Amino acid sequence: MTDVRPSTERRPTVDLRTDGRAALDWAADYLERVGDLPVLAQVAPGDIRSRLPAHAPEEPEPFSSVLRDLDEVLLPGVTHWQHPRFFAYFATSASEPGILAELLAATLNSVGFLWRTAPASTELEGVVLNWTAKLLGLPDGWHGHIEDTASTGTMAAMIAARTTTGRDEVVCSEHTHSAVEKGARMLGMRLRKVSTDAEFRLDVNELGELSDTALVVATVGTTASASVDPVPAIADACEAAGTWLHVDAAYAGSAMVCPEFRWAFAGVQRADSLVVNPHKWLLTPMDCSLLWTSRPAELRAAFSLVPEFLRTPDAEDALSLSEYGPALGRRVRALKLWAVLRCYGRSGLQEHIRRGVALAEMFEGWVATEPGWEVCAPRHFSLVCFRLEGDDRRSRELLERVNASGEIFISHAVLDGRYVLRLAIGQMSTTEADIQLAWDVLRREARGL
Ligand SMILES: Cc1ncc(COP(=O)(O)O)c(C=O)c1O
Repeated sequence: MTDVRPSTERRPTVDLRTDGRAALDWAADYLERVGDLPVLAQVAPGDIRSRLPAHAPEEPEPFSSVLRDLDEVLLPGVTHWQHPRFFAYFATSASEPGILAELLAATLNSVGFLWRTAPASTELEGVVLNWTAKLLGLPDGWHGHIEDTASTGTMAAMIAARTTTGRDEVVCSEHTHSAVEKGARMLGMRLRKVSTDAEFRLDVNELGELSDTALVVATVGTTASASVDPVPAIADACEAAGTWLHVDAAYAGSAMVCPEFRWAFAGVQRADSLVVNPHKWLLTPMDCSLLWTSRPAELRAAFSLVPEFLRTPDAEDALSLSEYGPALGRRVRALKLWAVLRCYGRSGLQEHIRRGVALAEMFEGWVATEPGWEVCAPRHFSLVCFRLEGDDRRSRELLERVNASGEIFISHAVLDGRYVLRLAIGQMSTTEADIQLAWDVLRREARGL
């Protein structure tokens, strides 16, 4: 006969208090020891899969087995984004308040289809987006909500631009993130890439005719070199042509908590939409990407579709954020950002950003004065692009060697047709000693080439 007891009675293997304490201890221990682990996973494809059973267990297992296998089976296959010497892509941190808030968000398991299915979550999201807009110096009154990634937020902007303008061309620079090309392909929109100037910024003289263009994507902090496109001049051209201006500040947007970096946001107040990823440089666990728009009515018109089963008698100001983006079910992402903003405060966030930039400046200085090495792009924030003088092969080999050492993890880009190395600083626990060690490892491995 089918067992009809409540599922909690049949689940004796997990005790939230004791197992929860063990999981929290695991998390605290991990953050203390992660710097001693190899930053890049030292496994081959398939290694981890081969150590996992092919079937889920027939009978319940204790949670302690999950924690044990996390250590014994999975950990060797983890590339440690929380490592103080993770310098690849854009280094990022999940800070303690964000980690704890994720646990609480999963506990609430609130699903924000509609305002009434998640009033607190919906209203908190609006408030936290307004707080963040103020911290970054954005104009008052923009509508903001959270998407999973900048890829999704940017695609939402592309959809709104197409719906609003009735056009289907997307214009961006050759250094715009590939998310834009991927979005255009998925949406069946035409993509036109504009060349960049000597400092890897979109060349406005090459923007060309925009009368058939749905949107231009300008980037503040490109992925390859963190260059800053000339947003004011791009905004002029977009305004003249009735074209939507989307600004991608996924990485560098977080730096705007410090007034000294706001020069890079010049013109952003004229954008139709903007993305910033606190999951990159603002201490918030993946995933948390903020999408603001100065044209909420147009964004809503592009996405709102309310079938009968979702109709409610709630008032019009009972905002349903699912009407502003692709997803219907929305989790409580605002909780972790709220916790981070409160537990760091503006001063703590500024200190984090300034420390990363100061460390990058220090590293840049060492590279610039070392014979045989060169800095390859202006450094505006916490990313340094550099290479060994000579052909690409040496820098390429150097990257492989330093990453294989497990002591540091860096990534690469191509600038002006040349292979360059990228050291991106953004981890909460990175110290001067870590940067010194990175430089020692790079020079040691370069000598061995
Ligand atoms: C400038 C820029 N835009 C967009 C993205 C894509 O971000 P996401 O992973 O949130 O889609 C990145 C990722 O590094 C980026 O650097």
